[in-house]
Amino acid sequence: MSIPIDLHGTEKPCPIFINDDLLNSPHLIDLGLKESNHHVIITDDNVRLLYASKLMEYLQKNNIHAHLISIAPGEISKTREMATFVQDQLFELGLGRDTCLIALGGGVITDLAGYVAATYCRGIPVIYMPTTLMAMVDASLGGKTGVNTPYGKNLVGVFSQPKAIILDISTLNSLSEPEYLSGFSEVIKHALIFDNEFFEYLSSNADGLMNRDSHLLKKTIEKSCLIKTTIVKQDERESGIRAICNFGHTIGHALELVTDYSISHGYAVAVGMLVEAYMSVKLGLLSSVEFQRIRNIMDRFSMPLKILSNIALEDIKRAIILDKKSRNKMPMFVTLKRIGETYAPDSQFTISIEESMLDQGLNYLMQEFVG
Ligand SMILES: NC(=O)c1ccc[n+]([C@@H]2O[C@H](COP(=O)([O-])OP(=O)(O)OC[C@H]3O[C@@H](n4cnc5c(N)ncnc54)[C@H](O)[C@@H]3O)[C@@H](O)[C@H]2O)c1
Ligand SMILES: [Zn+2]
Repeated sequence: MSIPIDLHGTEKPCPIFINDDLLNSPHLIDLGLKESNHHVIITDDNVRLLYASKLMEYLQKNNIHAHLISIAPGEISKTREMATFVQDQLFELGLGRDTCLIALGGGVITDLAGYVAATYCRGIPVIYMPTTLMAMVDASLGGKTGVNTPYGKNLVGVFSQPKAIILDISTLNSLSEPEYLSGFSEVIKHALIFDNEFFEYLSSNADGLMNRDSHLLKKTIEKSCLIKTTIVKQDERESGIRAICNFGHTIGHALELVTDYSISHGYAVAVGMLVEAYMSVKLGLLSSVEFQRIRNIMDRFSMPLKILSNIALEDIKRAIILDKKSRNKMPMFVTLKRIGETYAPDSQFTISIEESMLDQGLNYLMQEFVG
């Protein structure tokens, strides 16, 4: 069964198919693959071993002979250099605008292949086939593509929607426990910023979800995708409400940068959400009871909240100021009013905070999570 969710309202409508046996579904071929003369699967070395030959066989049966480009797995590959490498591979293959990319992998692959597709020959189509929970519920949705730079995370990129997104939930079964669980930080984020009832649902079903119960997982992924697409539809280019999706990310991105990406995005964001929720309490916006419930759900999903790295408060502070969302070199934060609702005075979805408040947040971070 598949449930198409249409991202109408964005520059290009983009259907999302949620499925549990994608290679037996007709969708991929029906989605206009044959409109392009050439096809290239972009994946990483882990996912290649697991799923690339299955996908290539399926395409071959449908008379599509795809090329394969596989890169080293992990955040270290999400760079300008790797984007150039992939583009050069496409040039070497002599491919032009009549080429469609298929991004098969986690958020690193969808972000990187999306960026390559958006820029190669001024833009070629791409279909996302996300294979991590993180990519299914967040990275593949909303059209943000890009790469990291030594100056910060996702600092070079473009907004560009894929042609379609196809999720095969069964691919999650091969994910390692830490990679699987780290995806829940964005699921929890969607509940925290938008939907109290979903938060309750996650709290009540944490055990089943941790055991990868496919029924619960499907419902959770659908809900999470709906929340993200509902927000993106209102503000594709992030000039307003979409900024709430950055909850936990001002701190989270800084943590990724200062630890040289040795902690996963999901876990950095989980810590980031707790610190930003803590600052929300200190600002008198969020109650400490609600804060405790947020801490509890992180425990329920076994988020490893200890960052075993030798990082200094001043380094994190410098990285925070480099964040894309900074205005006049002042870091901007999404704060919470309650579970399911962010604080947005006069429709300002991010707020700047006094340095003393930032210091309180960072002291909490250092005491609770670092070391
Ligand atoms: N564009 C956006 O809006 C957006 C939103 C959220 C996250 N992101 C980005 O996504 C990235 C993180 O994504 P991620 O957590 O998926 O990381 P990832 O792509 O590095 O995947 C994590 C690991 O899982 C492996 N893997 C992938 N699928 C697998 C499977 N089915 N079975 C076994 N192993 C598998 C990969 O090889 C990798 O080692 C970050 O760069 C983050 O910035 C982007
Ligand atoms: Zn994120």
